Amino acid sequence: MEDRIKELLAELDLAGKLRLISGAGLFRMAGDPAIGLAEMPVSDGPSGVRGENWDERDPSVSLPSGTAIAATWDPGLLTEIGALIAAEARRKDVYAVLGPTMNLHRSPLGGRHFECFSEDPLLTAEMAAAYVRSVQAHGVSACPKHYVANDSETDRFTVDVRVGDRALRELYLYPFERTVEAGAWMLMDAYNSVNGTTMTENPLLDEPLKGTWGFDGVVVSDWTAVRSTESAANGTDLCMPGPWHLWGEPLAEKVRAGEIAESVIDDKVRRILRFAHRVGALAATPQPTPVFTDAQAQDLVRRVAAEAMVLVRNDGILPLAPETTVALLGLSAGEPRFLGGGSATVIPGHTTTPVEGLTGRLPLTHTAGVHLSEALIPAPLAIMTDPETGEPGLSARYFEDETELGTQHRATSRLVLLGDELAARSNTIELNTRLRADTAGEWQIGFGGVGHIRLDLDGETVLDENLVLDGGDPAAALLNPPQRHVTRTLSVGDEIAVRVVTSIEEAMPGLGIILGATLGIRRPQRADDEEFAAAIELARAAEVAVVVVGTTEQIESEGVDRTSLRLPGRQDELVSAVAAVNPRTVVVVNSGAPVEMPWRDDVAAVLLSWFPGQEFGDALADILTGTAEPGGRLPTTWPKTMAEVPVLDTTPVGNVLDYAEGIHIGYRAWLKAGIEPAYPFGHGLGYTTWETGDLTVAGRTVALTVTNTGARAGKHVVQVYLSRPDSIVDRPVRWLAGFTTVSLAPGRTQTVSIDLPARAFQHWGADGWVSEPGEFIVSAGTSVTDLPHTACIY
Ligand code: BGC
Repeated sequence: MEDRIKELLAELDLAGKLRLISGAGLFRMAGDPAIGLAEMPVSDGPSGVRGENWDERDPSVSLPSGTAIAATWDPGLLTEIGALIAAEARRKDVYAVLGPTMNLHRSPLGGRHFECFSEDPLLTAEMAAAYVRSVQAHGVSACPKHYVANDSETDRFTVDVRVGDRALRELYLYPFERTVEAGAWMLMDAYNSVNGTTMTENPLLDEPLKGTWGFDGVVVSDWTAVRSTESAANGTDLCMPGPWHLWGEPLAEKVRAGEIAESVIDDKVRRILRFAHRVGALAATPQPTPVFTDAQAQDLVRRVAAEAMVLVRNDGILPLAPETTVALLGLSAGEPRFLGGGSATVIPGHTTTPVEGLTGRLPLTHTAGVHLSEALIPAPLAIMTDPETGEPGLSARYFEDETELGTQHRATSRLVLLGDELAARSNTIELNTRLRADTAGEWQIGFGGVGHIRLDLDGETVLDENLVLDGGDPAAALLNPPQRHVTRTLSVGDEIAVRVVTSIEEAMPGLGIILGATLGIRRPQRADDEEFAAAIELARAAEVAVVVVGTTEQIESEGVDRTSLRLPGRQDELVSAVAAVNPRTVVVVNSGAPVEMPWRDDVAAVLLSWFPGQEFGDALADILTGTAEPGGRLPTTWPKTMAEVPVLDTTPVGNVLDYAEGIHIGYRAWLKAGIEPAYPFGHGLGYTTWETGDLTVAGRTVALTVTNTGARAGKHVVQVYLSRPDSIVDRPVRWLAGFTTVSLAPGRTQTVSIDLPARAFQHWGADGWVSEPGEFIVSAGTSVTDLPHTACIY
């Protein structure tokens, strides 16, 4: 391979080389026909593969998010997940999937907490390395991100994270080190600075990444993170998106002037050619991937979602007995979140909500009980007719000034136009549909978007506005744009012709394209108190109440950190009121990250579903009815209250975010502070009972027997922690050193052995890794605070 790369490099002139180190589009790496190199599309990632287009015409399988995957504590599952991700990538002609996201849960406020795995570097590393290995086994590249210390979102483009060497090495860099070891072909650097230098130029790209660790793949910038022409002298190899005005010709001038050595560019090109070789872009046909039918993909996503759900409390009510009558309450029961917001968003072709999943499995009544937001929702397909085709949906007409470029039928009301070729050439887009009222009363009809937007109803212009975005984050412009609406009183069956015309105006400084447009509605709804009371009545009448609570896209998404851990709206009040009339209340929490649960001791069971992907409803029904058991254990500590969280603040002071807590984040910080959280790291219950035998130690291998003493098959997660109370250095009270999962039939016993990595015994000293001689204490159990077995280890 290296000889061939050398030959190809020799065929390229400077212009050819520079073309390769910048993108050829928003999500496309450049090719070069003269050397037989195809263009290489890349795609977000990480919980599904969106592809170059962001729309419903080419849907993607939506997998559980990062916290959910980590909650399985089962790197083995990644073999199947990786195969599915690779198959999706190949189907969409994608060469690299931009994931896994493996920054750490330093603070529960972090906006991309849901996308990352864990607060623990070892658990993160194990899951991330398995992700990389399994995707790449099929010839598709993974792209671990974001190198490094991109653990929160506030001022994410400019924040300077100040972090000491020891915390960097032991915590934040460790998962990246392990994915390099696993053979990652590409890795993404971050928007933020670390210790004064922006990450696209940071010396950490040279050492340890390309130096000691020997990373020989491509370092790609996070999107738009390359900030200068001079930056090309540093470790970023590929500037995305591209072509980018700062590289290209200005860079050519610097190379010609001898300010940047051509050998530096050659190294980047060599890496890109090596990548191209690995993913098959230099071959006539890339490596074949497994093929998943829709049914196989759905089955896998459903299984993983169930493996990920964490039952943190159960007084014995779960699993529910057959034929139990259920009042299924909460807004998230009918309008759940399947995935987190931001670049991780994919458009699934199929979803099941909790209401859909439980219907037919148990006798059911349902109402939301709360209205969470005043925001419009994208108009449902069932009430939209495209006037051009008569099909459900709308027609989108694209114009460049007065010239019509084309019309598309679209089976959606939420158009994301990134990647659409017609949209890229248009400066005006017109959406037309006939909306049919399915409920009588006062409807809200409107739009969301950025730019100049006009709304016509039955031919009459009712809104005409320039919508500007606060702050310049394009992700926010796309996913949480401003909205406007009017109200109309409609009877069931009434039809209304809706036209939305959106065009580019100066209102969008710096963004010369229309990013998207949403046709939104709100149906007539019961007054808040009436809706609340209706839920309480249903709870009273049923044998069991299941309340599905959750966060919203507005508060838990890329681009912003949360400001509160409380559930939005009246959800806490709803749970308490339901539990007061029906003690047999089960709460399902549909969030990607911890929320406060002030009612947790007053309800019969609490199940955390995370953002579980497209099969939410069926996976939840499997667990509630006992067809599957909740396989998850907490990958991150859940606090009682935000006030008690030991490491919380994500707001930079004078542009600096100081990781003053050093190595004490997550459960390490909780243990150090001596505060008891609501539920500790590692905690989670199944449906059977277990007995574990004594711990034996041989070298760095620990072993113990595990017996399923219950009446049904189940999964047990053995967790092993180290501690060193008499250490010469400041250490965590204890830290995770190894783990494994065991699935056993009732009555069966298995001996599990776990090899603890040498690194688990080392700390980062002034001159590198240090092994402190002497005795460590090793403990095993089911969470960081439930460790019945202890031994000495050297
Ligand atoms: C995100 C990356 C993502 C990229 C491309 C950035 O804003 O930080 O995670 O891969 O956009 O969508």
